[in-house]
Amino acid sequence: MTTGLRHTTRSMPSWTTKPLGRCCAETLAEKLAGTDRRKFRILDVAAGTGLAGEELQKIGFTNMDAVDCSQKMLDEAKAKNIYGRLICDFVGPDQLDIQNGMIRYG
Ligand SMILES: C[S@@+](CC[C@H](N)C(=O)[O-])C[C@H]1O[C@@H](n2cnc3c(N)ncnc32)[C@H](O)[C@@H]1O
Repeated sequence: MTTGLRHTTRSMPSWTTKPLGRCCAETLAEKLAGTDRRKFRILDVAAGTGLAGEELQKIGFTNMDAVDCSQKMLDEAKAKNIYGRLICDFVGPDQLDIQNGMIRYG
């Protein structure tokens, strides 16, 4: 029984065995390997309480903003001091008020 579970876990994609936030951070780190992580400005879309942001910060991404349609979630994210801007908006067909790398909220 245990052996079967171990085998299953080993053959599953990483997103099923790791927290989603960590998978996101590791994927981004892999794609941007060899670059200075501090120079990137990241917009964490559907940031929620900032689980992915926390993981990104741990591995050196420090310039981040967050957007989420739930103010309650953003309030929790704000308490973690991960993000510069926290934008409460719905990501959909309408353009967010973000242009040329600038976020014009708050
Ligand atoms: C699974 S949760 C948060 C996941 C988050 N990335 C994390 O690491 O904690 C998904 C979030 O997406 C937000 N959300 C869903 N659809 C959205 C939309 N269209 N625009 C903005 N936020 C959205 C919800 O409010 C919720 O906080």
